[in-house]
Amino acid sequence: MKEITQKVQVMFDELGNSQYGGEAVSQLEHALQCAQLATDELASAELIIASLLHDVGHLLHALPYDAPENGIDDMHENLANDFLKQYFHEAVTGPIHLHVDAKRYLCTREAGYQALLSEPSLISLQLQGGPMSEEECSIFEKHTFFQSAIQLRKYDDAAKVLDLQVLPLDHYLDLIEKISL
Ligand SMILES: [Fe+2]
Repeated sequence: MKEITQKVQVMFDELGNSQYGGEAVSQLEHALQCAQLATDELASAELIIASLLHDVGHLLHALPYDAPENGIDDMHENLANDFLKQYFHEAVTGPIHLHVDAKRYLCTREAGYQALLSEPSLISLQLQGGPMSEEECSIFEKHTFFQSAIQLRKYDDAAKVLDLQVLPLDHYLDLIEKISL
């Protein structure tokens, strides 16, 4: 088994039960629901693994889950990117790195999107720079991983359902073995 596969397993075993930023689900439940949505939509292997791992940044720091309520942005998208780029191609890390910006983009460009965000997501939005300006949106759209970041964001926002039956973490370990560097 590769180092990253083992690390993912250990990280979720040890910290997966921690609360997902004030939402109704745990970090592991959120990750598995997100990956399940990507799997159900027949997304690429890279986007499925990006969905599974998009929030590992939250598991890589020691800040409390409610840090945003105290005005602290944990910068989890940067932490995840810095960690995961040792192990994966940009097709995996790109959308992860951009998933916060994707929220800021959708708030500006998709009518009704912001109104559907959960309370914790709205609190962090303000710390993350708020909705993008039109100019920021135009620049963001040109990014290579724009489409996959938007898709990941949609899975992310939907992956907060209490007690949903999903495939277990084990299901994704072979895929991590296969597509990691
Ligand atoms: Fe998330």
